[in-house]
Amino acid sequence: MQSDPPRIGQRLGPYIVEEPVGEGAMARVYQARHTGTGREVAVKVLHARVANDEVAVERFRREYETASSLSHDRIVEVVDFGQTVDGSYFMTMEYLEGQELGLVLEKEGALGPARVVRIVCQLALGLHHAHADGVIHRDLKPGNIFVSAGEGGDEVSILDFGSVKLQLVSGRKLTALGTTLGSPCYMSPEQAMGKLDVDQRTDVFALAAILHELATGQVAFGGDEAAEILMKIVAEEPPPVSASNHAYSWAFDDVVKKGLHKDKTKRFGSAVELAEAMLRSLGLDADVEKWARSSESAIVDALESSTDTTEVASPPPMVYPTSVPAPLPRRSSGLVSVLTAVLMFLAVVATVWAILS
Ligand SMILES: Nc1ncnc2c1ncn2[C@@H]1O[C@H](COP(=O)(O)OP(=O)(O)O)[C@@H](O)[C@H]1O
Ligand SMILES: [Mg+2]
Repeated sequence: MQSDPPRIGQRLGPYIVEEPVGEGAMARVYQARHTGTGREVAVKVLHARVANDEVAVERFRREYETASSLSHDRIVEVVDFGQTVDGSYFMTMEYLEGQELGLVLEKEGALGPARVVRIVCQLALGLHHAHADGVIHRDLKPGNIFVSAGEGGDEVSILDFGSVKLQLVSGRKLTALGTTLGSPCYMSPEQAMGKLDVDQRTDVFALAAILHELATGQVAFGGDEAAEILMKIVAEEPPPVSASNHAYSWAFDDVVKKGLHKDKTKRFGSAVELAEAMLRSLGLDADVEKWARSSESAIVDALESSTDTTEVASPPPMVYPTSVPAPLPRRSSGLVSVLTAVLMFLAVVATVWAILS
């Protein structure tokens, strides 16, 4: 496999590359500096192994066009696009200091409600802006969310608009396909089943999966194999958040459950609706903009005073088994494998179709 040429000290347009800061399936990201203005930027350079792949390049260009057309505090600001001397492509972005949300979760596990409120309200506003512009992210996941430390707490930026629908002109090679599929943990059931009418509720599903993970420290749909994860996405529900983290109530469980509904028409219609329902479930008013910019300590205070005034709801009635539980239906592992294969096939076909159409 072709490795990336050394970039440190290399000139990319008016920028000098200084040090590597991150890497994804498509590209490596470096810190760089504008030789004239001294402005610090992040420069994302397409991996050499995909730099000659028409689909990957088109996807990268589309990422640049999409992200540069979106101007929002919660969406990474994209500046320039250009070609390297060795024939690869780069784009420059505002340089963000901090870490991927995925790393925060890895290091810290489940987060408390105040941080979750701030992060989810900010994400919802960024997504809402993109959706209002007709842009569906399609690959929202903790690895594509960047967290910086602001004065009042976490400041999130949505990265990587590379999975938005591509408009290609004619027949292509499909070596970028694997990167398009990526990790399926946050894929919506309609994406997993290969349906083509993906809309903003696909991002709402991913946001709900992230909400579950923020509150539990566990992925909503996990597994060792992509096929196993896809099966869970279309057929299973994750355990309720309140079962593992008592800082969250049954009302919060209901929000996650609705956000993860298999039928997109039964999900929240927008990311902001999900954030509003989350706020209400925690006893806060549903002003998403306000809570997105409130400091973490102000949110902690508001949550405390809301629990002081909120009556504790009585638990749902326990249902005791009156007889020996029925034996679990025997699973035919052959049937599961066939279903899995069909699902994977449909997802691949849909992705190919989405890239070509
Ligand atoms: N503007 C930025 N500032 C700092 N780090 C960034 C920036 N953009 C991306 N990164 C880091 O680089 C990683 C890969 O970037 P990403 O755009 O997700 O690439 P890919 O399309 O290959 O997945 C990110 O997960 C993040 O850690
Ligand atoms: Mg990425």
